[in-house]
Amino acid sequence: MSAQPATRNTGSLRVAVIGGGIIGLCTALELRGRGADVAVYESGMELGAGVTMRAAGMLGAAFEWAIEAEQRSLAALARHAGMLWPDFAARVERMSGGGMEFSPEGAIVIARRDGEIEWLETLVAACQARGVPARRLSLKELAHEERGLTGKVKGALLLPEDRQIDAQIALQRLGAALSRAGVGFKFGRKIERIIGGQVFQMPDGERFDRIVLATGAGALPAFAGPRGAPLEHGLVAMVPVKGQMLALAPVDCGPRHVIHSRDIYLAPKSRWVLVGATIERGRADTAVEPARIAALKAQAAELVPALANAPEVTSWAGIRPGTPDDAPMIGQTAIPGVFAALGHYRNGVLFAPATAELVADQVIDGKVSPLAAAFDPLRFDKQDEAARSLSERT
Ligand code: GLY
Repeated sequence: MSAQPATRNTGSLRVAVIGGGIIGLCTALELRGRGADVAVYESGMELGAGVTMRAAGMLGAAFEWAIEAEQRSLAALARHAGMLWPDFAARVERMSGGGMEFSPEGAIVIARRDGEIEWLETLVAACQARGVPARRLSLKELAHEERGLTGKVKGALLLPEDRQIDAQIALQRLGAALSRAGVGFKFGRKIERIIGGQVFQMPDGERFDRIVLATGAGALPAFAGPRGAPLEHGLVAMVPVKGQMLALAPVDCGPRHVIHSRDIYLAPKSRWVLVGATIERGRADTAVEPARIAALKAQAAELVPALANAPEVTSWAGIRPGTPDDAPMIGQTAIPGVFAALGHYRNGVLFAPATAELVADQVIDGKVSPLAAAFDPLRFDKQDEAARSLSERT
């Protein structure tokens, strides 16, 4: 990324980023670093009020890469994003003057049942085949890394390049970095309609040359031409995937690394241990269900027994923005000048700096890299068209 503090330049390309979650903020920072004049519109009253505020902050490039080994482009994006994060975090920390709890500790994947050893081996093989560091840990090594783990473990894997941040703190740091770089924020602005044409006019009368949609699981604005005729962006609707999560107070003998089991993950921060998360496809409500939270706590305590006595700090539910193929939508929509940075499903925090680069390449330079091409936001339409023309021919 090339984000540098910059002064406002009236001759710059004016870009409105719709959505103040981590995708919108990283994209705004990248665009600003490349000389654009950027404003961020956030429908809530604080940054990340949609999904980022509820994220676990894992940068699970290797874990996600390995479990998505079949989706090569997604794996490549995860790997690229994972490599960007250390420098990106350091840059934002420098720009904002505060840390975001970037932790380079690595993640540990645990097999607890006999059948899960095969799963672990599949992850190892997927990593090894493509040069992603992954190391099987002996039970003795595991006990050294995580002294609070249950003894009922069948096998373990260390993914040294999987890191984490505190997502909520990162939002504050990004906000400060952006303010210092001269990016404007507009809070409490749910953008329902944008008038397109040579330029785009927002409901508040502000005008922009380009629009970036980074609305997470929120509703997209409608677009209309100067005479009011609708403009179609051609994007499919997001698939909501609810996740419920629990925050437990830190305990002695609590986890040090991010720990993945087949059922849950533990993401320890300085202020709490996050236990996540349910995966409820098609659900868009944010109700927290005590039975689900109790199940998460019980599973956490099976992994790390000391967590059985950890007080519950809070719990919440967030809506992951899924897509029909669980890959993001990055690039120009059917409306020239309107770009998508959407559909990051489980990996918005991980992907954010990489998405920001790919979007800025297109917004500023009109350049669609081979990596970005795999995430064409209009690919679902094209798949439908291909299927239609095939069925017409047969
Ligand atoms: N990235 C973790 C989750 O979606 O639960």
